[in-house]
Amino acid sequence: MEILTLGNELLRQKAAPVKPIDPEKYQALAEEMAGALHQGKGVGLAGPQIGLLERIFVVHMEKDIPRVFINPSLIMTSQETVKYEEGCLSLPGLWADVIRPAAVRLQAWNEKGKPFTLDASGMLARIILHEYDHLEGVLFIDRLSEPKRNRLLAKYEKRKGGSNADSLRGKS
Ligand code: NI
Repeated sequence: MEILTLGNELLRQKAAPVKPIDPEKYQALAEEMAGALHQGKGVGLAGPQIGLLERIFVVHMEKDIPRVFINPSLIMTSQETVKYEEGCLSLPGLWADVIRPAAVRLQAWNEKGKPFTLDASGMLARIILHEYDHLEGVLFIDRLSEPKRNRLLAKYEKRKGGSNADSLRGKS
């Protein structure tokens, strides 16, 4: 399972609702996504990141079971916000402090097609909001100030250029 990175247009598109939720299909998909998540040492992975424009994401925090969210809707986000450092499997090597609501209540369906409501705070709320953004075609760099985003993107481009230069050097 390939994880798409910045520059791929699929990361910028809005994902469509899953309809219907075929338990067999989505249990298998969720397992595959959890596998890719572990391989990438991430804590969350959304459909668009694997080129699947469907409203599904998987969250796996340490010491927790992987949680699957299909067709999630945010019922409430807290007024209180927190700043915390984020990274993303689609933006390898980039980290930045992002301000988000401290808590969230959402409604979603699991991989078996069962609906649930969840109140989350702390790290879980943070990951859920980051993954929900992916379903809307939004990346965490979009939530930074413009100067900060530009600095980060310049760093990203420079590193990409750097690795190309390295591989050219290796060939000569
Ligand atoms: Ni991400």
